[in-house]
Amino acid sequence: MTLLIVGATGTLGRQVARRALDEGYKVRCLVRSPKKAGFLKEWGAELVPGNLCHPDSLPPALVDVTAVIDAATSRPTDSLTIKQVDWDGKVALIQAAKAAGVERFIFLSILDSEKYPDVPLMEIKRCTELFLAEADLNYTILQLCGFMQGLIGQYAIPILERQAVWVTGESSPIAYMDTQDIAKFVIRALSVPETEKQTFPVVGSRAWSADEIISLCERLSGQDARVTRMPINLLRTVRRVSRFFQWGWNVADRLAFTEVLATGRPLHASMDEVYQVFGLDPQDTITLESYLQEYFGRILKKLKELDYKKTQTKKQAPKKTPFKKS
Ligand SMILES: NC(=O)c1ccc[n+]([C@@H]2O[C@H](COP(=O)([O-])OP(=O)(O)OC[C@H]3O[C@@H](n4cnc5c(N)ncnc54)[C@H](OP(=O)(O)O)[C@@H]3O)[C@@H](O)[C@H]2O)c1
Repeated sequence: MTLLIVGATGTLGRQVARRALDEGYKVRCLVRSPKKAGFLKEWGAELVPGNLCHPDSLPPALVDVTAVIDAATSRPTDSLTIKQVDWDGKVALIQAAKAAGVERFIFLSILDSEKYPDVPLMEIKRCTELFLAEADLNYTILQLCGFMQGLIGQYAIPILERQAVWVTGESSPIAYMDTQDIAKFVIRALSVPETEKQTFPVVGSRAWSADEIISLCERLSGQDARVTRMPINLLRTVRRVSRFFQWGWNVADRLAFTEVLATGRPLHASMDEVYQVFGLDPQDTITLESYLQEYFGRILKKLKELDYKKTQTKKQAPKKTPFKKS
């Protein structure tokens, strides 16, 4: 079984590639920059150059492919818009997969996308789900809501570095999940027939608010956080202003996501049935407490080692003899 993974250099995509290789699948990755994807080749994946926004690059990448796993999404740092990558690009990929006779298509969506038609990425995810369901492909849609990996840059590092932690005034609690655990569901879907033509939430065991995560980080790091609260209305104004400029469209579309958080509605879903269908054990899924405990434990140990080395180097350095006048 040959898999084509799109977005394999991303946060989730690389875990999916790792898991697929570990489970013995033949893995091909569609990559925009082979140089950036060198680590995937070292792991044993085949790299094919391609870009979702260059539809001609897709059919050659799909030759002899049994299943497609789409873990791509537009990068905030890219010049390409969400619409170009997440809609036009995905439509091209689904059409090319169908034409190539691919047997399975796994799409990674966002939980509750149907509830936010005014948020561009949510609306695009919902439309892609519908497009895929009507494409006469054997699909599985996994609806995700937040990655634990994202919390390191957002909370853990600023707290360790005594920098400001930015949070929106109002924010919905989110059921974060480790991408390694999400990858287990993605790969398992390939071998469980009950997941065909079905949609499942794949989320963490409970939803966490920003304040709860900050308290947890403070406890684990032994440091107080410097919290800066951004009023939601300020973000709305920035969004409206950036809409006026073409360079700001991407910014505006991303800021629209604050509307999801502003509702205060938790991004969470029951996973009881999902674990059953996939034949996975919830006990094997890492909790947010364990994830952050492991992270802070590792970092604080490294910092202690560095501190020890610094003290040793200082002790060993020859003492400067004061300059004496002859
Ligand atoms: N992050 C979250 O919290 C979250 C929450 C819910 C759902 N999701 C969904 O989960 C999936 C993975 O998200 P992620 O955060 O892991 O993504 P990510 O880290 O931002 O990575 C995006 C990936 O897409 C690739 N890509 C971007 N534009 C492309 C194009 N034009 N052609 C081909 N590849 C392109 C990137 O390749 P380059 O390396 O070349 O840029 C990269 O591999 C996405 O579908 C996302 O919507 C994410």
